[in-house]
Amino acid sequence: MNEPTSIDNSTVLVTGASGFIGGHIVQSLLDKKCNVHCLVRRSSDLRWLDRTRVKLHFGDLADPLFLDDFLNQIDYVFHCAGLTQAKSRKEYFRVNADACQNLYEKCSDAGKNLKKIVHLSSLAAVGPALPNAPVNEATPCKPVTFYGKSKLAGEKIAGRFSSSLPITILRPPVVYGPRETNFFTFLKGITKGWNVKMGSSQRVLSLIYVQDLVDAMLKAAVCPTESGNAYFITDGNSYSWDLVVKTASNLLNVKPRTLRIPDSLLIFIGLFLEFISIYRTTPPLLDSQRMIDIRQSTWTASSQKFFDDCKFDPQYDLQKGLEETLNWYKEHQWL
Ligand SMILES: NC(=O)c1ccc[n+]([C@@H]2O[C@H](COP(=O)([O-])OP(=O)(O)OC[C@H]3O[C@@H](n4cnc5c(N)ncnc54)[C@H](OP(=O)(O)O)[C@@H]3O)[C@@H](O)[C@H]2O)c1
Repeated sequence: MNEPTSIDNSTVLVTGASGFIGGHIVQSLLDKKCNVHCLVRRSSDLRWLDRTRVKLHFGDLADPLFLDDFLNQIDYVFHCAGLTQAKSRKEYFRVNADACQNLYEKCSDAGKNLKKIVHLSSLAAVGPALPNAPVNEATPCKPVTFYGKSKLAGEKIAGRFSSSLPITILRPPVVYGPRETNFFTFLKGITKGWNVKMGSSQRVLSLIYVQDLVDAMLKAAVCPTESGNAYFITDGNSYSWDLVVKTASNLLNVKPRTLRIPDSLLIFIGLFLEFISIYRTTPPLLDSQRMIDIRQSTWTASSQKFFDDCKFDPQYDLQKGLEETLNWYKEHQWL
């Protein structure tokens, strides 16, 4: 396989640019002197985007009428928009699947010069692994939640367009790093001296630090892979949840007490939190769908194929990634 070329100075579109991962990729693309177009919504929180250096386009991807008059200038698309939490199956599918159809139809019509679309999917699209057997690209997809099912539907749409558009699909596991807010809630609990242990299983998971994921996305953009290929992308390790807690506690210099939530209570807690958020516009951090995720013991994947095909070498393990993350939270007074 040829050595990847460079994305420097290209014109790129980032969807979901106001989000956690989208915001980080925008920063890296600006560092590479790219001309960055960002698709955001009128309601998006734009505090992490440097508005003097990016071109903003306002639109809702789930609305087929979103503006697309700039697409013919674009070399690369990083499709990061997605819903990781929603109140219904319909909402997940509207954004994680229908929006892909809208975007790729527009790309087919206007984006004749596109060199690559990097489509951000998720390990959840494939589902959990068996103990000691990380999933890989040959594993049949068996998503267990609405989120996972909607991400798989998005992948299938990307797959259908892959004969006319150059698309690479990436499937990260849990992504952590500066500005992230879910993993942050766990870290905040540890800082306050509490390790909330959900369920009885010994949980094992893959992880990736956000800068490694961003670098992998940039690599995927220029790596000559077959269109429609889907790759797992992790930091190359598997971690027990106990090790995650221990690493965070050591870095924070705390000895948290463990609060155990039995398996039998998980679904009830999820349903209760859903019930009390009925009249809120945002979904709760934990709901019955999230509890299905949590009850799986093993969320691990092998990303050897991506490492080999695209010559990618992650730079962060949990210790190094968490250290940078915690420093950022402290500097920004989140912790
Ligand atoms: N974070 C993880 O651990 C993780 C793991 C695996 C895969 N992923 C995938 O990575 C992608 C990005 O995740 P993230 O963690 O960065 O999520 P995030 O912080 O919630 O960002 C999601 C982005 O998508 C945008 N978006 C949502 N609905 C939209 C719509 N209808 N039209 C246009 N934009 C819309 C959001 O815009 P607003 O700011 O307006 O809401 C936001 O910019 C998602 O596809 C997710 O499935 C994430």
